[in-house]
Amino acid sequence: MSDEAEIARLAACGVVPVVVIEDAHLAAPLARALLAGGVDVVEVTLRSAAAMAALETIAREVPDILAVAGTVVTPAQVVEVRQAGAQAVVSPGFSEAVDDAMRAAGLPWLPGVATASDCMRAVASGRLTCKFFPAEQAGGTAALKALSGPFPQIRFCPTGGVSLGNLADYLALKQVLCVGGSWLAPADAIAARDWARVTKLAREAREAVKGLRG
Ligand code: 3PG
Repeated sequence: MSDEAEIARLAACGVVPVVVIEDAHLAAPLARALLAGGVDVVEVTLRSAAAMAALETIAREVPDILAVAGTVVTPAQVVEVRQAGAQAVVSPGFSEAVDDAMRAAGLPWLPGVATASDCMRAVASGRLTCKFFPAEQAGGTAALKALSGPFPQIRFCPTGGVSLGNLADYLALKQVLCVGGSWLAPADAIAARDWARVTKLAREAREAVKGLRG
């Protein structure tokens, strides 16, 4: 699958659940709960001891969901998530070291950008699909529109402070590929194994995307 195919899947889904999984046994049921709500992508963040095992479990047991690794900040993590079966990688920021590692890994990469300088570095490396992070805290849609002036070629996945309440504002912008957020799979719902709630949140988000984008 080319980079574009992975990116197209993110765009088609419109929402990317950003999840923190503390127990790898919860990874497959969580992924299935998201799928049941029509969300077929998941970003597993490397913010827990169980993250790598969780990623591996999802890649192996729930092949219908696109397994994305998140919070990848070092070249060593790039190698690890690739081995775990990640199909794409998201970082909170941009670094040349991770950029090089991602090229070697041959997987799609969404580096994080929040400023014009970040965008200049991303564009210089040919990285034209970026996470806009932290979206709300960095100025929200107004900042995104301003950045798109000098960088019309970048497509963004705004993440950070995005929710059902404001996703329409972001998805209304043509430079927005998709939005990401933790609201789709809250930590308390995962801990309580409340898969019905996760499915409901996923379905609500997908309905909103479909209402906006058809
Ligand atoms: C991320 O990792 O992308 C963000 O921390 C998610 O932000 P949110 O919790 O505000 O959705």
